[in-house]
Amino acid sequence: MSSSLLQPSHHDLYPFIDPCPPCGQLASSAKGKSVLITGAGSGIGRAIAEAFALAGGERLFLVGRREAGLRETRERIGEKVELVGDVSVVGYGEERRCGALGGDRAGGIGGRGSGRRDGCEVLVVSGVDISKGEDVERMFTSYFGSDGSSEGKRFPPPDILVSNAGTSCATENIADSDPDMWWRDIEVNLKGTYLVAKRYIRAFREYYGSTNVAEGQGGTQSKVEGRIIKVSSNASWRYVPGRSSYAASKLAINSLTEYLDGEEGGGTVGSTTGHSRNKVTIRSVALHPGGVNTDLAATLPETVRKRILIDKPELAAGTCVYLSLPRADFLMGWFVNCTWDMEELEKHRETVESQDLLKSKVVGMFDTLPAP
Ligand SMILES: NC(=O)c1ccc[n+]([C@@H]2O[C@H](COP(=O)([O-])OP(=O)(O)OC[C@H]3O[C@@H](n4cnc5c(N)ncnc54)[C@H](OP(=O)(O)O)[C@@H]3O)[C@@H](O)[C@H]2O)c1
Repeated sequence: MSSSLLQPSHHDLYPFIDPCPPCGQLASSAKGKSVLITGAGSGIGRAIAEAFALAGGERLFLVGRREAGLRETRERIGEKVELVGDVSVVGYGEERRCGALGGDRAGGIGGRGSGRRDGCEVLVVSGVDISKGEDVERMFTSYFGSDGSSEGKRFPPPDILVSNAGTSCATENIADSDPDMWWRDIEVNLKGTYLVAKRYIRAFREYYGSTNVAEGQGGTQSKVEGRIIKVSSNASWRYVPGRSSYAASKLAINSLTEYLDGEEGGGTVGSTTGHSRNKVTIRSVALHPGGVNTDLAATLPETVRKRILIDKPELAAGTCVYLSLPRADFLMGWFVNCTWDMEELEKHRETVESQDLLKSKVVGMFDTLPAP
């Protein structure tokens, strides 16, 4: 085996992570689940939304700033699965009836075989800038939390949060960079991801209560589990000229993932804190979604684009569905590259765990001190 655990081996959907009905190995794996996807109006986020719909997701929340892209995602999903409910939530609490968009057309990753399955509710939640605390707060209080009105707690918090929205504004070397553009990458990619994750966890606590299992009603309460899949990037560990703010934000996302999983994930880190006894457990993982030809990647030089943008968004999307499953629990807190073969990765579980791999570290540094 080379020094690397796994080599990139996929550029498109493959059977082990295929969410497409009727034959995909992950078909129906999201049955009954609700999923919130940020940045769902284009690129990788759109493919992720489609994949969860195909995998049987019951309710999807498509979140972003621009309504048109989110609506298009909804329409595309309607070409592959039956949409239920004819109300699309747009903006902050305003509801519009928009009619069922389901049809008999088939295409994209859902176009294979007979393909169609019944019943996915798809809600468009536009006008949400994830870098703005007030936008994130309003979204959660409008749709998931209790705002004190009789309409509070309309939906349980989503089972799965895919924190995919991101940007890459700054493209110059640091000395030549515009501070506002540079900081914008940090604000959207890091602060935005943090704000949504923090509010997601609070929504769980508000909805289900935060008592720990032992204290709650004789310890008989069942545990509630949430899952955060954060879209990171290989840029978090690989030098990409002119992308210092993007790289810093994605490296920080890997760290945020490790901390979130340590704090909320049931005690993988800091087991002395007793978090494993919490009624609500929220696991977190960071994902490199491959190199995909999207708007965000359009500012890369032409030669780089040709060389690295070689992956289909459906690869990241199917991998997200896989990462949402209990069998991927062993990857929580860590960084996963969707171009690896997930079945192969499962075979390396012991190595990953015993050698503490897939984490952001300083190469060559061995910490002999016990963990704090
Ligand atoms: N493409 C690649 O090769 C690649 C590689 C590694 C990682 N990634 C990551 O993949 C994720 C998706 O990017 P993509 O390549 O699919 O690009 P994309 O098509 O440009 O998608 C980015 C999405 O994020 C949303 N967004 C941006 N800023 C936002 C904000 N402030 N608040 C809410 N939503 C916001 C955008 O929608 P609105 O503008 O309507 O809000 C858009 O739908 C990003 O996190 C990116 O860093 C991509």
